[in-house]
Amino acid sequence: MSHMKPFTALSPGPTRAIAPARNVLGSLRLPGDKSISHRYAMLAGFAEGASRLTNFSSGADPHSTLACMEQLGARVERGENGAIAIGGRAGEFREPQAALECGNSGSTMRMLAGLLAAQPFHSTLVGDASLSRRPMERIRAPLTAMGARLELTEGHAPVTIHGGPLRGLDYQTPIASAQVKTCLLFAGLQAGGATRVHESVHTRDHGELALRAFGAQVERSKLTVGIAGGQRLHGIDASVPGDLSSAAFFLCAAALFPESNLVLDGVGMNPTRASLLDVLRGLGVGLNVLELNEQHAELVGTLQVVGNPNGLVGAEISGAMSAQLIDELPVLAAIAPYTREGVRIRDARELRVKESDRIALVAKNLRAMGAKVEEFEDGLDVAGGQTLHGAEIDAGDDHRIAMAFAVAALRATGQTEIHGAESAAISFPEFFDFLDRITER
Ligand code: S3P
Repeated sequence: MSHMKPFTALSPGPTRAIAPARNVLGSLRLPGDKSISHRYAMLAGFAEGASRLTNFSSGADPHSTLACMEQLGARVERGENGAIAIGGRAGEFREPQAALECGNSGSTMRMLAGLLAAQPFHSTLVGDASLSRRPMERIRAPLTAMGARLELTEGHAPVTIHGGPLRGLDYQTPIASAQVKTCLLFAGLQAGGATRVHESVHTRDHGELALRAFGAQVERSKLTVGIAGGQRLHGIDASVPGDLSSAAFFLCAAALFPESNLVLDGVGMNPTRASLLDVLRGLGVGLNVLELNEQHAELVGTLQVVGNPNGLVGAEISGAMSAQLIDELPVLAAIAPYTREGVRIRDARELRVKESDRIALVAKNLRAMGAKVEEFEDGLDVAGGQTLHGAEIDAGDDHRIAMAFAVAALRATGQTEIHGAESAAISFPEFFDFLDRITER
């Protein structure tokens, strides 16, 4: 597969068999957050001086970002256990000699476009088949309004950027997207005047926090974020918090077992990412925050999850909640049949333009396991009180689908086979090993 990188060579084979489990117990420390890793890597490559990052994401996507940084002239050294040293370009990238390969990573393509829009050269961003189907007009329109010229192919990658001097922009994002917001802040950092991005939903704020960590001033008031152009960034030392969206699979796995007890160390608990915890509490799961610290304004904690002897209730997820939970919706839908009242998801149309059409693929795979599901343009109704059976799952080259159904398989009768399981390595190469470690059979 084109998005596989050599460092994922130890990842599991293409099909993984998952047997039902009796319980989930133990403790884990998760690799670094994907969203934060991308942002730190990009800003470290852009900043002046050296940055030293630890617990950088092991996922293929943030490593695509690192490779792009190298193509743009930043020096990148990869150490053990997610230690990465990056020598920054002090605001002036080197013109790339070939297309920038973003692999499967929408974050790389969209956010890097913001940095490149102000650079005085032409660059082209390419991706794999899945990324080449995803919408890019959402960055082309505002970056064009700032003065860059972008060429797409029918709204998709390859994205060719003719960079140059930018002017600040006041922009209301039509779709809730932290990638687009961050793209515009990265462009605004290099523009003449101020750039303001107004959102309808407070999406994840890692871009704002990362910019501040690297020394930029970023203003925030309610749903508006502003940045003045012409600010210089300097390299930082930072540890990347564990990925809460990866933790979500284990939190949901633990939720399925009345006697589970799982402790996750060093997990990112940025409030703009933590809606999952509210939903799990609403389902009846016991969640305790055992410790909480702050690193570069990102909250990091130890989280304990304890199963509920009375089982799970049910949930309704809509409005702003859907946007804030967008990466966790597949796994929440996958465990929904095991709740009493089921899970209703709406206002999640964006799921259709992720690494796969996640609404269609979740519905198809739940049905393969014998579940009753209703599909809507912007969501799903998954009935509760169902018994699922093991089945053949099509991960559709989508990491979160592969992992979500590995979790659903833990409470099914009989064995489940996840085809395309290796796609987990896009965000979480250790996933299946970690799952084995915490499941009792
Ligand atoms: C991300 C934002 C979300 C999310 C993606 C990572 C980010 O995408 O789905 O996995 O790091 O900003 P959108 O910006 O498209 O909502």
